[in-house]
Amino acid sequence: MNDRKEQKQKWWKESIAYQIYPRSFQDSNGDGIGDLRGIIERLDYLQYLGIDLLWLSPVYDSPNDDNGYDIRDYHGILDEYGTMEDMDELIAEAGKRGIRLLMDLVANHTSDEHAWFIESRSAKDSPKRDWYIWRPGKDGKEPTNWECGFGGSAWEYDEQSGEYFLHCFSPKQPDLNWENPEVRRELYAMIDWWMDKGIAGFRVDAITYIKKNPQFPQLEAEPGRDFAPIEKVSLNQEGILDFLREMKREALEPRGAITVAEAPGVPLEQIGDFVDETDGVFTMLFQFNHVDLDIKPGGKAEFVDWDMKKFKDALSLWQQESNRHGWMGLFLENHDHVRSVSKFGNDGPYRDLSAKMLAAYYFLMRGTPFIYQGQEIGMTNCPFDSIHEYRDIGSLNLFRDETAKGRPAEEILGYLGKRSRDHGRTPMQWNGEREAGFTSGTPWIKVNPNYREINVAENMKNEDSVLQFYRRLIALRREHRSLVYGYYDDLCKESKEVGAYQRTYNGERWVVLCNFTGRSVSLQQLTEIPLDGERVLSNYEDRDQNTLRPYEALVFRWRRK
Ligand code: GLC
Ligand code: CA
Repeated sequence: MNDRKEQKQKWWKESIAYQIYPRSFQDSNGDGIGDLRGIIERLDYLQYLGIDLLWLSPVYDSPNDDNGYDIRDYHGILDEYGTMEDMDELIAEAGKRGIRLLMDLVANHTSDEHAWFIESRSAKDSPKRDWYIWRPGKDGKEPTNWECGFGGSAWEYDEQSGEYFLHCFSPKQPDLNWENPEVRRELYAMIDWWMDKGIAGFRVDAITYIKKNPQFPQLEAEPGRDFAPIEKVSLNQEGILDFLREMKREALEPRGAITVAEAPGVPLEQIGDFVDETDGVFTMLFQFNHVDLDIKPGGKAEFVDWDMKKFKDALSLWQQESNRHGWMGLFLENHDHVRSVSKFGNDGPYRDLSAKMLAAYYFLMRGTPFIYQGQEIGMTNCPFDSIHEYRDIGSLNLFRDETAKGRPAEEILGYLGKRSRDHGRTPMQWNGEREAGFTSGTPWIKVNPNYREINVAENMKNEDSVLQFYRRLIALRREHRSLVYGYYDDLCKESKEVGAYQRTYNGERWVVLCNFTGRSVSLQQLTEIPLDGERVLSNYEDRDQNTLRPYEALVFRWRRK
């Protein structure tokens, strides 16, 4: 078929990646905050799990307004996390275990405490003034009615110079001015500096925000709102590819950096521009349609109806396209999203089964799988009892702004109970001891009370645990190239209850078949699914010839004849 293309074999396509949110992974000194030494202590665990690529969310020096995504010094480590020596040791120790690192590259913005910004802010004629985006006000107000990602105006007034600076995220995260070649050169030098340390590359933060609409137009706000979301003028704007291609040419490609782009706002048609094997800018791409299908885009705390058919369609669209070009970073969770078993599975009686089913479903798709810390033991959303238990700036601001507009607190708490980024940020549950073995002190954010039941130690002991299921999936993917390079095709496309697809490669065929519900589904109705293959993996011990039981996942294989 001409809509598919054989792809080159690359080590990172065969990799299994793991994401650590350092603040919540392992505390080594009792201050309640995860740190680099804590990660070093847990490297053996990561090796046991079987991963070989490790994405670290930011550990750079930062005032932590947005938990490290506001960088004060790209070349320094935040004291709470340790020292640069610890970082070097982590890279070396990980390397000994066959694990390579991806640092978080936050290049859209810095902290307002970064030396560049301090200088930029110091005077209108500062040589670094143009390193950020400054504009005079209009009629005593903000230059435009753009709203930042964490609520409120995207412009912050600076008393001293009487001008405003732009921030897509918090006011403590001023956007760098990518139009200025000096800025770009500095960022490329920084990339180089980190590559010299021997890392494999980067997860590239918020990279689709770097280009702004040069007209700086006023936007149409929804009735009753003063502001309109900045995405319309800051996300994947015309001309962004010039910047991205330059970054590839000047910095990424010469160093052979592996990159996975956080790329909201990129339409399917553009997959090639971003990740085509020869012409694309990045090596892998994260798309977010499957995790954001429950909310109104650009809206504020508003849910929309969704079901598992939508989930499945959102994933398969990109899967199908990636037969031709592009390579996906596969994921269900990260530090910005809730726990997958709570959202897409069942975190009650079927927690164990549904966590395994979801694992099988996404892990064997085409792309490089990323596991988010705790996902591999089936961690769930956390019951936060009041707004005071939340820590995430986005959640806190949303609560403040929406209740100020008169929405009932319960409604916003209900929203946060299903959406807050803090669900993915509660401490890693290592064992059933105090604070789940995360810290000997008081954790910076509460530990999920279910840690006595859900933790790594229990999962390691139990042959049937979610963790062991992940280990089996990893082993399977490592053993069979067809699960890495095989083409993807949907099966049972119309079903709302069943998610199924096949992977084919060199005469070998695999079928992954999953029941998304807590009810049994008759197999007779699934006429497209061949069931005569070898059953290689399942989350049930035995097989039922007639039905797919609640949250059952089956993986079949047909060998080359
Ligand atoms: C990315 C990060 C998120 C952060 C934002 C601003 O989306 O994943 O955690 O808040 O960028 O840097
Ligand atoms: Ca610590």
